[in-house]
Amino acid sequence: MAELAGKSVYVTGGASGIGRAVTEAFIKEGATVTILDRSVERLRELEQQFGEVVRCIAGDVTMYDDHVRAVRMATEIWGKLDVLVANAGVFDGFAKFVDVTPGALADAYEMLFAVNVKGYFYAAKAAVDELKRTNGNMIFTVSGAGFYPDGGGVWYTASKHAQVGLMRQLAFELAPDVRVNAVAPGGTLTALNVIRPLQPFVKLVDSETKASSIRRRNPLRIVMSPEDHVGAYVLLASEKSRAITGEVISSDGGLAVRGLG
Ligand SMILES: NC(=O)c1ccc[n+]([C@@H]2O[C@H](COP(=O)([O-])OP(=O)(O)OC[C@H]3O[C@@H](n4cnc5c(N)ncnc54)[C@H](O)[C@@H]3O)[C@@H](O)[C@H]2O)c1
Repeated sequence: MAELAGKSVYVTGGASGIGRAVTEAFIKEGATVTILDRSVERLRELEQQFGEVVRCIAGDVTMYDDHVRAVRMATEIWGKLDVLVANAGVFDGFAKFVDVTPGALADAYEMLFAVNVKGYFYAAKAAVDELKRTNGNMIFTVSGAGFYPDGGGVWYTASKHAQVGLMRQLAFELAPDVRVNAVAPGGTLTALNVIRPLQPFVKLVDSETKASSIRRRNPLRIVMSPEDHVGAYVLLASEKSRAITGEVISSDGGLAVRGLG
């Protein structure tokens, strides 16, 4: 029996990486998915691959009206919204605080917080009334960086901590109508972008170096791929987790038990 049969889901950043893997898994479990993403080309590929069960909107998560358009599309086509997955994000490339000039610091702050933090506030705000109608739920993609240092630089780590705070406060305010939870992936092989203002301060690494650094950082020694995380999203979206709210499922190869060695 499909876990998400008949559910209407809104995913931000669903055209690539973790969001794309979640989209595929949700469709396999019987859901229909509306995606907001800025990559027009990859959205087209998704439409070709999945046809009628996926609807795509090209837009920017930092613009509130783009979320409103996406939620409206989901409710017009499928009559309701059951789940929001707030996921679109950008990265700081582990840029070191002391190296970055004050001007670049400010530009990076504005850009990264607009996507990673404001983008989640806006997604939740645009979806909340429809989710109340269906007793639905929200799932935020956070990160190991939402709990521990060394999952990014200060911009990314602070933004991921902010997402965890947003998730917890929303879980409190929206109970008993809407559950709000998060998945915290560890380092995963995706195309996660380093924002432009910080590019001069970071060393871009090839995928082999990235893979070995991911493996070294987690106790299970897994080089994670987006598909490794989808089970946690399916669980949180489904009725099987009806008693879970305000929680984070860490899907990170065991960062919490990492030692000093
Ligand atoms: N890759 C990792 O190691 C890792 C680890 C933990 C958490 N995460 C989180 O997972 C989430 C997804 O990242 P990913 O690794 O799959 O990267 P990705 O780049 O493969 O996917 C991110 C998607 O978001 C879209 N996006 C970015 N900015 C946008 C904007 N302003 N408006 C609309 N769409 C926008 C991109 O076009 C892309 O399709 C992010 O929140 C990221 O912080 C990633």
